[in-house]
Amino acid sequence: MEQRLVSSWSNVHSSVPPSFVQPLECRPGKVTNPSSKTIPLIDLGGHDHAHTILQILKASEEYGFFQVINHGVSKDLMDEAFNIFQEFHAMPPKEKISECSRDPNGINCKIYASSENYKIDAVQYWKDTLTHPCPPSGEFMEFWPQKPPKYREVVGKYTQELNKLGHEILEMLCEGLGLKLEYFIGELSENPVILGHHFPPCPEPSLTLGLAKHRDPTIITILLQDQEVHGLQILKDDEWIPVEPIPNALVVNIGLILQIITNGRLVGAEHRVVTNSKSVRTSVAYFIYPSFSRMIEPAKELVDGNNPPIYKSMSFGEFRKKFYDKGPKIEQVLQS
Ligand code: OGA
Ligand code: NI
Repeated sequence: MEQRLVSSWSNVHSSVPPSFVQPLECRPGKVTNPSSKTIPLIDLGGHDHAHTILQILKASEEYGFFQVINHGVSKDLMDEAFNIFQEFHAMPPKEKISECSRDPNGINCKIYASSENYKIDAVQYWKDTLTHPCPPSGEFMEFWPQKPPKYREVVGKYTQELNKLGHEILEMLCEGLGLKLEYFIGELSENPVILGHHFPPCPEPSLTLGLAKHRDPTIITILLQDQEVHGLQILKDDEWIPVEPIPNALVVNIGLILQIITNGRLVGAEHRVVTNSKSVRTSVAYFIYPSFSRMIEPAKELVDGNNPPIYKSMSFGEFRKKFYDKGPKIEQVLQS
C-alpha cells in the first residue's frame, strides 16, 4: 500500500510511468493557459443582499463556479487548515496509512492514490487524497488522524465554519430560486465529507492529470486552494479556464446533485486539475452530501408542465454507487 501513494515514489522518477499517461484527447497540452477568462468573484460582505443573491444565481447558472471573499471564515483558520493538510501529506507514507486505519470497516477515514471515483478508469491520476466524513455533530471524529497533533482540533473547527458558510450559500440560492429557505437543511446536507488532496510535482505535466475532468457528486463543494500553485481549471464553452488563486477566497462549485434538484437550471460544471513540474499543490475540498437514504430528484417547486423533470429520482446511496461505477457515463443513467 505504501508504494501505491504517488508521493512515496514520484520524486525519484524523471518520467511519468505508462499507467499515468493520459490518452491524447485527455492531455492538458501546454499547461500555461493563455486564457484571460476567469470565474466570477463575489463579495459576501456587501450590503446589497438582493444583488449578492443575483450574482450567486447568475454565476451558478452560467459557470457553476465562483469564488467568494468576505465569507466569514477567518484567514487564520484557513491557513491553519491548509497547513495541517500540507503537514499531513509531508509525513512518512507508513505514518499516513496508519493514521487512516482506525476504522475497522475501512470506510470512515481513507488515504488513496489517484482516484477512487472511477473504477473503470484505465489511467491513474497524479495525486494522493486523505478523506473522511466531517458532520458538525462530531460523529466519526474518532477515526480521523491524530497526527499532526492538532489535526482534529483544526479540521474540527474548519469544518464547523464551512458547515455554516455552506448553509448560508445554500440559503441564498434558495432565495434566488424561489425555494423555501430551509430547503437544504437536514437530510440534504447532513453528510459532509472533507478531502485533502496532495498533487506532487510531476516530471511530465503535459502527459498527466492530477484529477480527471469531472462534475462533483455533491450539492455544493467549497474548495480551499493553494495560494501559490495553479492547477484547477473549469470547462466553459469548450475552453479550459483556470481558477486563479485569490488571497483569502474560497472556491464554490455547484455539484451534480444540485443540478438534478434544480432540474438543470444550475450547472454542475466540469473541471479538472493539471500538474506542474516545480511545486507540490495542496487543496482542501469540502463536499456537502445528503444522507444515503435521501431521495434525489428535481424539486417539485421547480418543475411543471412546461418544465417537466429531466432526471430520474433515486436515493443518494444509489446515485453515488452509479456515479462511481459509471464514471463519465453517469449523465445518461440519470436522465428520465
Ligand atoms: C474535487 C476537486 C479540485 C482541486 O475534489 O472534486 O475538483 O483543486 N478538487 O483539488
Ligand atoms: Ni471536483
